[in-house]
Amino acid sequence: MVKANAYGHGDIEIALRLEAEGVEHLGVGLIEEGILLRQAGVHCKILVYGTFEMDGADAILKYQLTPVISLWEQAHALEKAAEAPVDVHVKFDTGMNRLGFRLDQVSPLLEYFSKSKILRLKGILTHLHTGEDAHDPQGSSQQQLRLFSEVEKKFSPFHPVVHALNSAALLSLSRKRSIKFGARPGLAIYGVSPFAEDFQLKPVMSLRSQIVRYHKIQAGESVSYSAAWRAQRDSLIGVVPIGYADGYHRLLSNRAQVLVAGQKVPQVGNVCMDYIMIDVTGVPHLHSDSGPEEVTLLGHDGSGQWITARELAEQAQTIPWEILTSVGERVPRVTEGLSYVHRKQAHEVHL
Ligand SMILES: Cc1ncc(COP(=O)(O)O)c(C=O)c1O
Repeated sequence: MVKANAYGHGDIEIALRLEAEGVEHLGVGLIEEGILLRQAGVHCKILVYGTFEMDGADAILKYQLTPVISLWEQAHALEKAAEAPVDVHVKFDTGMNRLGFRLDQVSPLLEYFSKSKILRLKGILTHLHTGEDAHDPQGSSQQQLRLFSEVEKKFSPFHPVVHALNSAALLSLSRKRSIKFGARPGLAIYGVSPFAEDFQLKPVMSLRSQIVRYHKIQAGESVSYSAAWRAQRDSLIGVVPIGYADGYHRLLSNRAQVLVAGQKVPQVGNVCMDYIMIDVTGVPHLHSDSGPEEVTLLGHDGSGQWITARELAEQAQTIPWEILTSVGERVPRVTEGLSYVHRKQAHEVHL
């Protein structure tokens, strides 16, 4: 899954890299995300998981995207727009109650696909709501997968690609070495585990900035808006130009730590839109006239120390997925020496 800007990592770079590694199917949420990848030279199959209407069907055909159909309206829109056969995947709702055909639509869909000259059924899928319990025979995932197996049997004459597992289900089942369904991992391919156990995954993203200004303050002085933090001792405060507009959640205020010169130091005061402040009093080589110093807000700084997405998620009362996908558009992505500022076309802001 490379939706949401490849979970904040930069979808073009990640998609091109995955394709170079031999990946044959990529997944996006929006047609616009798929178009961006096609325009960047991605050739493999790009599955679009979101819903669409007539103009979406036209764009899907134009950019040779593979629609995931969850509604009859989508099938009809494609039939109307297409002049040549179109490959589609069909999604079934086995309990998530988000997208997908309900199971009473299996028979009409079988009939439809056996007759359609335009839509070719290439894949079937479902989505698990609690993939974490996939190893448990009594758990909700196995219940969903049992329902989905029935669907799979009925569609077997079409020889579809069959996929159901997210990262949690994939990792959970890997413990039992019993993976019978295709997977659509997102979080795990970015090296982040959905569990407290890391499964020896190595996080792909590090988020780094630098200290651009130092303040020597006295005990009792406050830092940032609303004076929500006061120094207990004379302190050296570093100003770092990244804030909640860049995805560094305001809920991290006075909770998170960052890495400076291999040392964990606290973020202090309320997170601002464009800035955070950090307490670098304990970093021996820094003083009020020091030059820019690298700050790692997520990931590693090469010293062996890590700030994990899980720890930031706990501090910000959210989940690792949101920590990664929150990293803002204006944060330049740097990929193995190649630096670029990601341009996004997927959303419009109407004023
Ligand atoms: C339909 C679908 N499949 C797969 C995934 C990947 O999930 P994860 O990142 O938990 O592996 C998602 C993510 O939200 C999804 O919506």
